[in-house]
Amino acid sequence: MLKQHNPNDPITILAIESSCDDTSAAVLRDGRLLSNVTAGQAVHEAYGGVVPELASRAHQQNIVPVVDQALKKAGVTKEELSAIAVTLGPGLMGSLLVGTSFAKGLALSLGIPLIDCNHLQGHILAHFIQEGDEDRAVPPYPYLCLLVSGGNSQIVKVNSHRDFELLGQTIDDAAGEAIDKCSKVMGLGYPGGPIIDRLARQGDPKAFQFSKPNIAGLDYSFSGLKTSFLYFLRDQLKEDPDFIEKNKNDLAASLEKTIVDILMKKLKQAVKETGINHVALSGGVSANTGLRNAFKNMQQGAGWNIYIPPFSYTTDNAAMIAITAYYKFLDGEFCDINKPAFSRTVI
Ligand code: KG4
Repeated sequence: MLKQHNPNDPITILAIESSCDDTSAAVLRDGRLLSNVTAGQAVHEAYGGVVPELASRAHQQNIVPVVDQALKKAGVTKEELSAIAVTLGPGLMGSLLVGTSFAKGLALSLGIPLIDCNHLQGHILAHFIQEGDEDRAVPPYPYLCLLVSGGNSQIVKVNSHRDFELLGQTIDDAAGEAIDKCSKVMGLGYPGGPIIDRLARQGDPKAFQFSKPNIAGLDYSFSGLKTSFLYFLRDQLKEDPDFIEKNKNDLAASLEKTIVDILMKKLKQAVKETGINHVALSGGVSANTGLRNAFKNMQQGAGWNIYIPPFSYTTDNAAMIAITAYYKFLDGEFCDINKPAFSRTVI
């Protein structure tokens, strides 16, 4: 038997996110964030990408201390919780199983409901996270969201907190994946996004030209760019073995510009087609300086109303899962304890 929530009590949610290589827990009370604790996994750096088996082992080590810290930081005891929220997918199955098993066990032992959240919806609703005393401006419905991460590149029309319309998505690689792979080819570290971002600030974005896709509608493609980058470097290295070292700032700036141009072209088309000019940016790649600047230019030049999340809510975090779960709690939408994790889906 689940404990009934007393309507006079605050709604206090503990959220857990473990879909990839970040173990994160957050506590939200009545829609305001009290804590958000995330443990990254440096173990993958040596491999130039996330190793699924190592990720799930690291989640097992991190989950108890991360949840413990999130509760302590929020000043909340387990007994005060109204529900446990968890990312059910999409993500790496081994990683998801750690978070979902932990969340299910905790919800069962406390006799409180479980709320399942979609990782992608979490990224999209990150704009509604409120903390401290001041309210951040939130996008009105409907708004467009460019969701760009290591695993996804999508344009979504958000009609409400429960109605997501996919307008376009990548037909092959995600934008973050392309950045990470190109960075790997250049011999830079992992994840490549923040490194490319840093180098790009000192480079000339017009120094090199890389291929841009010609895809119908609002879909994206990044695999051609990745291949053209690879072949370009291969040819240049034949002439000069130090080519990358000598040109890394310009290479990073030109790569970043190409990716930003590709992303913005379809987004502008989506704004034109839908007539919606409230436009939000979400996901790990939304930390990128070039992309943020392109958004700001559209605000000044084209009158877009733009919404860019604080850096802490761009990459994977449990705060976005907590706010997604809060809306589900208000709607009375809870999850069967036997509902399984899932690795692949769109929004
Ligand atoms: O959302 P996220 O943390 O994980 C997924 O759900 O995929 O996104 C991770 C991606 C990686 O590809 C990483 O390189 C990229 O976000 N990223 C960036 C920056 N910071 C992280 N890409 C470009 N510029 C950045 N500053």
